[in-house]
Amino acid sequence: MCGIIAYSGKNGTNNSARELVEGLKKMEYRGYDSWGVAVATDQGIFLERKTGPISRLNKNPQKALPFGIGHTRWATHGGVTENNAHPHVSSDGRFVVVQNGIVENFLELKKVLQKKGYKFVTQTDTEVIVHLVHWELEKLNKEQELDKKSKISSPLSSTSSKSKLSIEKIFREAVRATFLQLSGRNTFVALDRKTESIVAIRQGSPLVIGKSDKEVFLASDTLPLLGKVPEIVYVDDDQLVEIKGLSLQMFSAKTGKEVKIKTQKLSQEVSKIDKDGFDHFMIKEIYEQQHTVTEAVSYSEEEFLPLIKELKKAEKIYTIGAGTAAFAAGQIARFLREAGYSAYELIAYDAESYIPIITKKDVVIAVSQSGETADTLEVVKVLKKKKVPLASIVNMMNSTLTRMSDYQFFSRSGPEICVASTKAYTAQVVWGYVLVQTMMGNYRKAQREVHELSTQLQEYFQQKKYQKVIKKLAQKLVKEEHVFVLGKSQHMYTSLEGALKIKEITYKHFEGFSAGELKHGVIALVEKGTYVFGIVGGSTKEKQETLNALAEVKARGAKVVGIASEPHEFFDVHLFAPDSNGLDPITKIIPFQLLSYYLALELKNDPDKPRNLAKSVTVK
Ligand code: AGP
Repeated sequence: MCGIIAYSGKNGTNNSARELVEGLKKMEYRGYDSWGVAVATDQGIFLERKTGPISRLNKNPQKALPFGIGHTRWATHGGVTENNAHPHVSSDGRFVVVQNGIVENFLELKKVLQKKGYKFVTQTDTEVIVHLVHWELEKLNKEQELDKKSKISSPLSSTSSKSKLSIEKIFREAVRATFLQLSGRNTFVALDRKTESIVAIRQGSPLVIGKSDKEVFLASDTLPLLGKVPEIVYVDDDQLVEIKGLSLQMFSAKTGKEVKIKTQKLSQEVSKIDKDGFDHFMIKEIYEQQHTVTEAVSYSEEEFLPLIKELKKAEKIYTIGAGTAAFAAGQIARFLREAGYSAYELIAYDAESYIPIITKKDVVIAVSQSGETADTLEVVKVLKKKKVPLASIVNMMNSTLTRMSDYQFFSRSGPEICVASTKAYTAQVVWGYVLVQTMMGNYRKAQREVHELSTQLQEYFQQKKYQKVIKKLAQKLVKEEHVFVLGKSQHMYTSLEGALKIKEITYKHFEGFSAGELKHGVIALVEKGTYVFGIVGGSTKEKQETLNALAEVKARGAKVVGIASEPHEFFDVHLFAPDSNGLDPITKIIPFQLLSYYLALELKNDPDKPRNLAKSVTVK
């Protein structure tokens, strides 16, 4: 949610604006309501802000200095307007601020600041940060002034008086004092024209520094840094970063004491962030699954063993995630239960009531594409304090979740740019399958099955006839408002994830649920012409039960779409999906992903950037 970028280059260069816009484009998936950049110039600060997708600047900053900050916004407080777009400038024009998070006590702070005479010109919570920094600066400057005067009037007092602070330190301290007054998860960056410095603090939303001998970057993730810098520094919660030219210092935001910078090499082995000839990232990522499923399990048996040892001695195993990742977590818990383990899935944003019953004798497996989801991190943090062993399967390297984990696994799917998750989901499920099979002594068999799955997917994508049927169905669904998706047992999560995919990018009401739930209420919604999807896969019993449910809706006039390896007389439309034993949830989710993509195109929606959503939900 929201992407932050800051740039500071070598003296004499003037490419800050270009670097900022380029960096923002790579983080646009984090929020695309509005965007803006601020660049220091000879005259002051150049500022341009816009609503809508990241494009080009209308003007180029004249006499630009080599430092600036930028932001791409996912609106929380205040509508999607140019005025609410970041960066926000201080009332005296001295500095600008960008923020990722929510100032939870913003109304309280706003009242206090208004009493002090500050005029608010936006509806954002960020504006309280701007005015607070200004207020703190004034306060510190006054203190310094008084101190100076007292020294002049009484030279004897010089030994007892506070030492003179540099203007850089005053600015840094003003930012720090501001941070200490904010509640909530807030990462923000301030660029000060006067001291020519950039000061950032991380709390919650991620922040990473990229360094080379020519430039220093700050960004919400590593994507803008790839190919630019050889080294990175992960900023932890409550750390403050000060950048001036190419020099970099880090401090504790709580105490103000300097902390050691831990530099690491930036792994450049990440797939290119382009569409590779596809029209959208979504369809590219859907196709990539034929390979990413094997990448996700490219772990040796030995690499699984330490976690397996922990899981085998655990009293209970909990899996956790949010949204799509929660469905993958559910699927993994199911695999574990089928293998005889006491495993339970938690939905991150509703897990509070479980916290008291989870102990250090249990194990938690957290599932996340980004590793930065606030809902998941919040629960996991509490459990870590209770010393509960934590494993995670995350797609983005070096995320907060990974760094917190005792057992770190990566789904290795390459950057997933489309907001709607596809390849990350299948990678998580496949990883869970191989983990559980390895626990049962079937590592080799499971690896073979995943390779067979990969071949099945390759064949599926090659056969254009399957997608032709999906495209035709998409045309028919354009006018539909409510569609139901039924799945049984292992396909209950497929139905939830399938419906979510379609909701996310078509804005149509698709509802997924267990086929068993039908007669307990949902069937009341079915009338002549209602589309009902049925996922017919798994064991003969599972298939039969779903077919029974489809017979019942068909008897009430529903139009039945069957996702199955074989046609059936109940189906009005048959979407082929191969059977794949334990990995059936993967083959059966693909038609939903493709349908959501083609239906979004029919509806003229941007599949990569669905309305109101952001890729990484870093606020609560
Ligand atoms: C997926 O299509 C969604 N955009 C969303 O539900 C997502 O899965 C969820 O926000 C969790 O994100 P994470 O995997 O990065 O933790």
